[in-house]
Amino acid sequence: MSSARIEIAASILNADLGALREAVQAAEAAGVDRIHLDIMDGHFVPNLTFGLATVEALRSATKLPFDAHLMILSPGLWATRYVDAGCESVAIHVEAPDQHRVTLDAIRDSGGRAGLALDPETPIESLAPFRDQLDFALVMTVKSGFGGQSYRPEAAARMAAIRALVGERDGHPLPLHVDGGINATTAADAAAGGADLLVVGSALFSAQGPTGMGGAVRAIRESATR
Ligand code: DX5
Ligand code: ZN
Repeated sequence: MSSARIEIAASILNADLGALREAVQAAEAAGVDRIHLDIMDGHFVPNLTFGLATVEALRSATKLPFDAHLMILSPGLWATRYVDAGCESVAIHVEAPDQHRVTLDAIRDSGGRAGLALDPETPIESLAPFRDQLDFALVMTVKSGFGGQSYRPEAAARMAAIRALVGERDGHPLPLHVDGGINATTAADAAAGGADLLVVGSALFSAQGPTGMGGAVRAIRESATR
């Protein structure tokens, strides 16, 4: 596990979709490092969320970095437009039937950091052809499409295998972002597996009680640094 501070990205998928500006600002006030934007087209995954116009509208709500997670059939058509909309990174799904080489380079050429996301059932070898074009990998610990699912414990082993497959660049291992079912309990497992960034949705937006979302962020941070 890296001793470096693990970043927390708030997924607003499980926030009140009728008040996303407030949700972004509440996550910032609670102490998250980044905002994770789950873009779903209703075809690649059986769910439809929000798109480019919403991301453009939210950009002015916070100075926090935006990370776009494209769960869409044609990421090549859209990826650079999310960079232009103010996303610092864009993750496209390796399972999508598209020209990933072209898209990953296009994300980087437009100034963004390029990542490939892979679902739990997808063989990690699918990342191999693109290993030199990645700035990070988005390791799904739930099947893409919905928040509030349970973390799949094989994630740590998959992260280790991805690290072995992709190797190092400039002497550093590929940054691994982990997405799905992260809470104060599962964060420790993901961190032990080598996660550099944790995407957290429902564990933040369902947080109640006196410490609310800020307490949830603190608990996750503490669990991830044990
Ligand atoms: C699922 C999304 C995840 C998810 C995280 O397809 O990519 O970002 O919303 O939410 P929780 O933390 O509730 O699993
Ligand atoms: Zn996501």
